[in-house]
Amino acid sequence: MSCYDFLVSTMTRQYPRTRLRRLRQASWLRSLVSENRLTVDDLILPIFVHGGDDIQAIDTLPGVFRWPLSQLPTICAQASDAGIKCVALFPCIESRHKDPEGRFSTHRDNILFSAIDTVKRLPLDLGVIADVALDPYTSHGHDGVLNRQGVVDNDRTVAKLCELAVLLCRAGADIIAPSDMQDGRIGSIRLACDQAGYTNQVILSYAVKFCSSFYGPFRDAVGSNQALNSASKSTYQQDPSNQFESAHEVALDLEEGADIVMVKPGMPYQDILYQIASEFKVPTFVYQVSGEYQMFFPNEEALDDANRIAMLMETLVSFKRSGAHAIVSYASLIAANQLR
Ligand code: PBG
Repeated sequence: MSCYDFLVSTMTRQYPRTRLRRLRQASWLRSLVSENRLTVDDLILPIFVHGGDDIQAIDTLPGVFRWPLSQLPTICAQASDAGIKCVALFPCIESRHKDPEGRFSTHRDNILFSAIDTVKRLPLDLGVIADVALDPYTSHGHDGVLNRQGVVDNDRTVAKLCELAVLLCRAGADIIAPSDMQDGRIGSIRLACDQAGYTNQVILSYAVKFCSSFYGPFRDAVGSNQALNSASKSTYQQDPSNQFESAHEVALDLEEGADIVMVKPGMPYQDILYQIASEFKVPTFVYQVSGEYQMFFPNEEALDDANRIAMLMETLVSFKRSGAHAIVSYASLIAANQLR
């Protein structure tokens, strides 16, 4: 009997012989038959770092901050104490360091390099993910350099990303994560890492990244919103109405040498997450992005609202149900404390 036949025969078996409520009677029983479980091992915490020396609140992301290097050990200790094992670092670059080419990305004073080094020197067992993209460094806020027509130049951007990627490996990033959506960048970055001797470098590809309106608060946090000035990233990020294209993106990135793929954003793209996780059966992460966090926590009071936290926990387990191996969320710390 096939699985499907069994299911159908079960479904057509009549009440009262079949009572699905039997297994929902007690908490211990519900946990015995539960199909998915969210644990703290699934959570990755994004951390914004900046070059100043104060802890800065981000207006559009209540409870999320831009951390100075000196305070990085504080937030990392909080994460580690809560059981989180991996953080994703994002640099906030002062506008005076931004130019159309994003040159500061490969400058030795790029705060991201010292941030990686700082976290890796802490006596904590924390993995570090570093983003490979130019948007924190470009004056126009795009993820790459522009051609004469003002469109992101794919191949020239990939060359710059390779340079940045190798420097991130050198700085000690455990995982590098290209989030720029240029064609062929995973293959080129893999080759550049290999040639530089980083043959074991883990590459997490933002393989599926939609051109989403849910990135707004992140762009406020890193200051690329102002730079972008409402320009769109639709010539390189995916069209939200597409489904099958995602499998094409993932297949290419795996072929080019990605170890892990990511789907982003999370909640509005669960169909894609489920499809990718079930089709490819490779480690698949999901990014619950800034606009999603903002829906749960639009203001400070929301951070203390038990029902909002319950809503958050429900979405996180729904990512597990859709097949995610790990979840990047600004609410990772809230969730980790909730799980204890
Ligand atoms: C860009 C990048 C973005 C995010 C992570 N890396 C935004 C963008 O494409 O503009 C968004 C994350 C979020 O909204 O939380 N390299």
